[in-house]
Amino acid sequence: MPVLQQPQKPSPIHTQDTSMSCQCPRIPLSPMRPAPEKVSMLFKLYCLVVMTVVAATYIVVLRYTRTVSTDKYFSTTAVFLTEVVKLIISLGMLSWEVGGLRCMASTVLEEVIYKRKETLKLCVPSLVYALQNNMAFVALSNLDAAVYQVTYQLKIPCTAMCSVLMLGRSLSYMQWFSIFLLCGGVSFVQWKPLESTAVHIVQNPLIGMVATAVAVLCSGFAGVYFEKVLKSSSTSLWIRNIQMYLWGILMTFGGVVVNDGFAILQEGFLFGYTPLVCLVILLASMGGLYTSVVVKYTDNIMKSFSAASAIVLSTLASMYLFELHLSYIFVAGTTMVCISIYLYGLPKLENKNDSSKQEPKKMPVSV
Ligand code: C5P
Repeated sequence: MPVLQQPQKPSPIHTQDTSMSCQCPRIPLSPMRPAPEKVSMLFKLYCLVVMTVVAATYIVVLRYTRTVSTDKYFSTTAVFLTEVVKLIISLGMLSWEVGGLRCMASTVLEEVIYKRKETLKLCVPSLVYALQNNMAFVALSNLDAAVYQVTYQLKIPCTAMCSVLMLGRSLSYMQWFSIFLLCGGVSFVQWKPLESTAVHIVQNPLIGMVATAVAVLCSGFAGVYFEKVLKSSSTSLWIRNIQMYLWGILMTFGGVVVNDGFAILQEGFLFGYTPLVCLVILLASMGGLYTSVVVKYTDNIMKSFSAASAIVLSTLASMYLFELHLSYIFVAGTTMVCISIYLYGLPKLENKNDSSKQEPKKMPVSV
């Protein structure tokens, strides 16, 4: 697997540096808190399955709240509140990592507030993710959930392209082929015949498609950018997340003011909120946090492959549980996913002209 080229800077969180004002233990010392790099395969599998199932449920529930519920809530407020929830959970996880609230507060001060340059790096993916998350609402207000799920799979080749351009990874022709095969396979597996659900709003499929295209580009770019920042130092994942969500809160609040400011003044911030809308926020938060954990332990391309396998497995499980029949399209999709995983893992050809034989390029952009 390609390795990032940037030097590993020691992080205060992982060293016993006592020069700082906080005297809290800088590494997780308790056996209850193993070093994050030493997680088991089972834990990775668990994160992947949860990430995938949460993402699929999120799409269906979001679509329902935008099209079937009567009072339409302000979607920008839901995106904003998701960032708030993710920040709170990340602060909680950091407390657990450093051993208490006081240590967490001083770590945040040291790592987030004082290291402004480091925090500034996360401004870019946070802005792009803010756009992506708002686009998901626009797309699902105008497109059927299955259509969105299928077209959104274009994020797989987009992520691969960003990994090549931004991380200097090299992919052989066979790996490129397997990535497109995977994209097609996942689309087939997720395809469901269009159901005529009662939709209470006017939809514009063109707007939905444009929003999906923007979300695809944002997903590829922001995912790889975050991976690059995360892996260019040994700074804790939770600190990186806190840095990003602080920006996220700022950016998404900008979205609330610009897009719905006047209407919110009249109707109220939580206008149209129901338990289902709260569920959308919860699912979006969980999905985002699990995504960050998966990217930490694998990479964005592996995340796509593993998520595809999780989609196949969870669809198979639900077919077994609900006694549904396998459709031809599902079998074709599953076969494509399996072949793509096999092809991606094949050793690269020993060819002089094969670009994959070359040393990985240095990362062109330093963050
Ligand atoms: O579809 P995709 O995998 O690109 O979705 C990523 C989602 O995970 C986005 O909603 C993004 O806001 C979220 N995320 C997060 N924290 C990270 C990385 C991504 O909440 N560190």
